[in-house]
Amino acid sequence: MSNGAAEITTRRPQLGVCYYPEHWPESEWTDHARQMVEIGLSYVRIGEFAWSRLEPNPGQYEFDWLARAIDVLGQAGLKVVLGTPTATPPKWLVDTMPDMIAIGPDGHKRGFGSRRHYDFSHHGYRVECARIITKLAEKFGEHPAVTVWQTDNEYGCHDTTYSYSNAALTGFRSWLKDKYGTIGNMNEAWGNVFWSMEYRDFSEIDLPNLTVTEANPSHHLAFRRYSSDQVVTFNREQVEILRKLSPGRDIIHNFMGMFTEFDHFDVAEDLDISSWDSYPLGFLERRTDLSDAHKEKYLNQGDPDFTAFHHDLYRGTGNGRWWVMEQQPGTVNWADWNPAPLPGMVRLWTWEAIAHGAEVVSYFRWRQAPFAQEQMHAGLNKPDGTADIAAHEAAQVASELDQLDLTVDTSQADVALILDYPSIWMTQIQPQGKDYDPIALHFAFYCAARKLGLSVDIVASGADLSGYELVMVPNLLQVTEHAAAAFEATNAQIVFGPRTGSKTHDLAIPANLAPGPLAQLLQLRVDCVESLRPGIVHQAGGGSISKWREHLTLLATPDDCYQMPDGHPAYVQFGRISYLAGWPDENLLQDVLVKSAERAGLQVQIMPDGVRVRTMGPHKVYTNYGRTPANIEKIIGSESIVQGEGGCIQSASVVITRIS
Ligand code: GAL
Repeated sequence: MSNGAAEITTRRPQLGVCYYPEHWPESEWTDHARQMVEIGLSYVRIGEFAWSRLEPNPGQYEFDWLARAIDVLGQAGLKVVLGTPTATPPKWLVDTMPDMIAIGPDGHKRGFGSRRHYDFSHHGYRVECARIITKLAEKFGEHPAVTVWQTDNEYGCHDTTYSYSNAALTGFRSWLKDKYGTIGNMNEAWGNVFWSMEYRDFSEIDLPNLTVTEANPSHHLAFRRYSSDQVVTFNREQVEILRKLSPGRDIIHNFMGMFTEFDHFDVAEDLDISSWDSYPLGFLERRTDLSDAHKEKYLNQGDPDFTAFHHDLYRGTGNGRWWVMEQQPGTVNWADWNPAPLPGMVRLWTWEAIAHGAEVVSYFRWRQAPFAQEQMHAGLNKPDGTADIAAHEAAQVASELDQLDLTVDTSQADVALILDYPSIWMTQIQPQGKDYDPIALHFAFYCAARKLGLSVDIVASGADLSGYELVMVPNLLQVTEHAAAAFEATNAQIVFGPRTGSKTHDLAIPANLAPGPLAQLLQLRVDCVESLRPGIVHQAGGGSISKWREHLTLLATPDDCYQMPDGHPAYVQFGRISYLAGWPDENLLQDVLVKSAERAGLQVQIMPDGVRVRTMGPHKVYTNYGRTPANIEKIIGSESIVQGEGGCIQSASVVITRIS
């Protein structure tokens, strides 16, 4: 298991772009390639949606156009990332195998005419994927310009992780049999005696949709675990073919933001590089946990922590190598409202990714398409082929990278944040309070640490925690043996959030109540939990608790404690362990983190509004998401400035310093 702390490499950060040669006349390809190189791009991703052009009729392979495109790009000096086209099976394939299409939770079949119209569990579709990938890898696997393969595109996008099909049902039953061995074990683990839900055989189990009222949460959780495993094996089958037929090439997949439907740590174990698709403005608009005032403030910049959070998350998956595969270049087309970035933001986002250890930042897309679904989505170039603002900002970063002698840095941060997908699923399946959004709780911890100037690694539950000074555990409902051992083994200060250890692997209450296996370490027991409707707020310390609160029995006298007005602890600390018995507001969380950071010997600095910093080896990269310049003279102190103006950081801009 990765702890997100790969060795410092000697790679240099590079830029890239997503390109669709099949969208443009072949006579223009050479010009496009030349322009890409002139901007300073090194990588170009192609092919991930091109199945209908690669195999227009069953078994009729037309790869020559792609070979010519790869040659043109390669001859210009570009390195090609070739996508497997499995996110867009062609119409003829769907028609020959109509049951390969996923079924929604309402029991309705989804249709052809967009993308991702497939069911991860469908064996026949997997055979078809293996066939086209084998053909592609036989043809291009050893092409010198092809240096990376991308598997599929954005697994799970458009609600496609779960399918309520016959294929999924068959797969789920056999997965359950493998997992539980006997039906008696499964009934016991799920508590199926409740409401007479007991099964006599695995063949009797249905999928957890279309029930009269809620299905057993353990049933839901098992189906989520099963569906996550389907993504893992779907990806693994592609990887195995590519490894065999395209030796020495890296394999990557592009994950998404705000997306937790499968376990990304598990998928990334089969990859050489993780990547994600970063659309700061689209995601800001889509978030439901932010106030309108916050959205207005950062309308054209994006939330100052959201993008960084995902950089740190995906760096923490796999072996630590990561890219931004798709970087927003201008307006997108898919949010409810689609504002344009402030001038400078594309450069800022690019530098921010590099500061978090990205090997490559690749813009989506080369040129805005004047047709079809994404005709309103900007690119580096306008639909008429003239350069848009992002092309200039990318060129600026490329020339800055040329001037600065930087290497990709993914060295371990001082602070870790633990993110556990099954615990997120548990909270989503059984929130117990309408607005208990586990992702928002992760963001709250992450954002509080970053406002203190701290750099954070996001790591899997059970990861080795040695080397960290401070560990944040916002939402770990399920505490595995590995996780418990890692908490015991580290000397770090640990701040646990509410609901820690409150569920077993199968989503039941532990025999000794929460925090279950951590009762001794935390020295408390949770006797009662309450969710709180909006507006109900309990003061505690200099801040407050809302949304959720717990009633604790303490098993020892704490070193520090804040009580709510009725005397129940909101926060307790025993030595290196702190526990929050509720959903903290920003003040309470910051206070608790400052105390823990200070005990850990970490220096904290409150960042000016909108300013964030990330340590990058011997450098620090400051970004200003605010709309006005910010004074950072005191914060920079004796650091020497290598990029940007000293003392003051302009709006939508970057300052890079050298620590020593
Ligand atoms: C991503 C996707 C791209 C494109 C882009 C538009 O989710 O991978 O193919 O659709 O969004 O922002």
